[in-house]
Amino acid sequence: MFGLRCYHYLCILQVNIGREAIASLHRNAQLFMPTTTWNRHHVISLSDFSTAEYNTVLQTAASFQEVLSRRTKKVPTLQGQVVANLFFEASTRTRSSFELAAKRLSADTLNFAASTSSMTKGETILDTAKTYLAMGTDIMVIRHKEAGVPNVIASEMDRLGVRVSVLNAGDGQHEHPSQALLDLFTICTLIDPNHPHIEMLAGKKIAIVGDILHSRVARSNIWSLIASGAQVHLAAPPTLLPKLFAEYICTEKTDTLNGQLFLHWQLEPALQDADFVMTLRLQKERMTAHLLPSLREYHQLFGITRQKLQLCKPHVKVLHPGPVNRGVEISSDLMDDPEFSLIQSQVTSGVAVRMALLYLIGSGKV
Ligand code: NCD
Repeated sequence: MFGLRCYHYLCILQVNIGREAIASLHRNAQLFMPTTTWNRHHVISLSDFSTAEYNTVLQTAASFQEVLSRRTKKVPTLQGQVVANLFFEASTRTRSSFELAAKRLSADTLNFAASTSSMTKGETILDTAKTYLAMGTDIMVIRHKEAGVPNVIASEMDRLGVRVSVLNAGDGQHEHPSQALLDLFTICTLIDPNHPHIEMLAGKKIAIVGDILHSRVARSNIWSLIASGAQVHLAAPPTLLPKLFAEYICTEKTDTLNGQLFLHWQLEPALQDADFVMTLRLQKERMTAHLLPSLREYHQLFGITRQKLQLCKPHVKVLHPGPVNRGVEISSDLMDDPEFSLIQSQVTSGVAVRMALLYLIGSGKV
């Protein structure tokens, strides 16, 4: 009993020493963090994010963007914590971006790819997650081709009573919160790099163009842009933007959508006077039927080109979450033109935004 009590006090002492050490390292590293309240344990969806939460992410990411511009790009914030990237589906930028973000915060990282894992021997997703739990994982970053998998793992961790956080890195056609947050950060920091806040987008016209039906990025973007007060114009052929889509969104947020969400089955009305254009990849891997006559025709009708951008505001910017089918959803020359394209900035912003998310859900655990 005495031994146990001693151990308990020792643990408290260690935690306090750990906190003090980290605080002093922060002071030395001169890392400015906005004072904020953050109660979210998992990040699965943006559908219930508050304005305060968006702004906390934006301001924290701005601080980390500043850290990333220094010669020493690392802070000790998550020292001793383990971040596991559990990617059950292919990824280039999201996986690497989460890995780099965790490393910049001094966490230990574990990378998992389903194709080279024991899942090929029949292990289940939950058993895989529990294996990483047993190794002391603090944060699981999860991508899966089925909607709901990150939520199931988060519920299992809560049921087990362990303090493991889950970050959704894209689940099926459901959501991709970190992508929408980095899109928001990219746009807001373009307007004011030092003080990005979501209210900056109130009244802006933002067109989302392309394969909306299959896009988890579009769903998360719709939640954040609606929350910002922007006017969101969706444009796609009817096969990729069914009328039902609006009903799905509206049943979730009937009161806030009036006058903010518009559906178009032609590109021009969505582009007219737009401030920003978000293009989406044609997600052929998720198409179960022939939804388009040809890629050539799709490009003619919905592909973004310099000529079509003339309908937009003069300073319009184009975003794309990547990977891009060059010459299909966006013309190749436009994609590479820094005057219009924010595609590279989106990738750069991704690291700061993911550092912010890992910091916000991870800093309470030390
Ligand atoms: C997106 C994804 O995987 O959902 N890409 C990304 O994460 N950067 C969009 C896509 O695959 O088209």
